[in-house]
Amino acid sequence: MKELRAIILAAGKGTRMKSDMPKVLHPVCGRPMLAYVIEAVRSVGSLISYVVVGHEAEKVKKFLGPDIKTVVQKDLLGTADAVRCAEGELKDFKGDVLVLCGDTPLLRAETLKALIKTHRQTGASCTVLTTVVSNPSGYGRIIRGADGQAVAIREDKDLLKSERSIREINVGVYCFKSESLSKTLPLIEMNSKKKEFYLTDIVEVMAARTLKIETLETETPQEGWGINTQIDLANAAAVLRRRILEEFMLDGISIEDPATTFISDGVKIGSGTVVKPFTVIEGDVVIGKNCVIGPFAHFRPGTRIGNQVEIGNFTEISRSKIGDKSFMKHFSFLGDAVAGCEVNIGAGVVTANYDGKDKHQTRLGDGAFIGSDSILVAPVKIGKRAVTGAGCVVAKDKTVPDDHVMVGVPGKVIGKRKTQ
Ligand code: UD1
Ligand code: MG
Repeated sequence: MKELRAIILAAGKGTRMKSDMPKVLHPVCGRPMLAYVIEAVRSVGSLISYVVVGHEAEKVKKFLGPDIKTVVQKDLLGTADAVRCAEGELKDFKGDVLVLCGDTPLLRAETLKALIKTHRQTGASCTVLTTVVSNPSGYGRIIRGADGQAVAIREDKDLLKSERSIREINVGVYCFKSESLSKTLPLIEMNSKKKEFYLTDIVEVMAARTLKIETLETETPQEGWGINTQIDLANAAAVLRRRILEEFMLDGISIEDPATTFISDGVKIGSGTVVKPFTVIEGDVVIGKNCVIGPFAHFRPGTRIGNQVEIGNFTEISRSKIGDKSFMKHFSFLGDAVAGCEVNIGAGVVTANYDGKDKHQTRLGDGAFIGSDSILVAPVKIGKRAVTGAGCVVAKDKTVPDDHVMVGVPGKVIGKRKTQ
């Protein structure tokens, strides 16, 4: 089996995003768009990949972490120049080279595998991933000769009038034979209009040298979408969000209204759980089986929910754990809290977890009953089966001992809980 390397282009400025954040770091369903491209590349097997960074290189490198190799493109002279920067790393490499853009987060692993397969089966020098979209404006178009073979990719700005109606576009994902890539890359000339070196010109250069060009069309057009503007970003997020929700539904989670449910990539939910409308679950959240979530619930990163838990309307939970069979059914906030099993968190309960400087923990023991409108000024500890009365303010550093009841403002312990 031939060896494989990948080059991911992520140095561009992303001017059309009109944002201070590097384009490839813009989140789509909770993760930077670049993360999805890296994940797709990783899924094709163990290969070394290089990410070309340039604009805000340090920020992009920081996101990538130490395990991913990066090469710096000093002057942003276009996609061909970006590949050239990574080429130095591949001097002695003989095999296939995948080139991808960091702004195509909807690309699926299966498609990438199919691209490599087509490339190897046909023995092409270059295999280009294409897709047919209803509105091709802005994309490079696939130009085919009389025999149907791809002979060029023409960028939107350079299209001839007769080519404007072509709806088959270049996704920006290619598989090259390394020797063909290194031979033809230096032959690409600067585009006179944009003063950039276009990687897309490599197709024409190769075709002129009768090197074989293949194409593979994606199964769905969305997969080929490149993100260049905030509108593209929102459109891609909608597609990805639906994909995420469908996976949950296939795993036995009820999503009552997918149109108003927002769940980040990477969230885990157990089967039998029902998610009601207007729920937002973001970051590394884990929710157990047979829970009822929402409507209007907001889960933030670092939250862990056990089984058979009910989290109702107008609730926010952040960096907190809640054990099995607990309830928090109406307008409450839990931050940095650890709640045991069968805890009842009444309406309007709030953890005052932030003192303006630091965040503090709240601990709620198994079977604790937190009365409506209790304010828990962290750090506090509510013991097992302990009760706070309605409107109780549990002051900082206080503990309600196991089986005891606290009432008042600030609350004071008044005696032992009566057993029912
Ligand atoms: C590119 C393709 C176009 C294709 C489209 C698919 C070229 C010339 N055009 O256009 O045919 O239809 O993608 O979405 O390749 N980058 C660098 N260094 C640079 C310039 C860009 O690393 O100097 C990176 C960007 O960070 C980005 C990727 O290359 O991830 C593509 O650049 P972008 O400016 O988005 O190209 P498009 O105009 O979308
Ligand atoms: Mg783009």
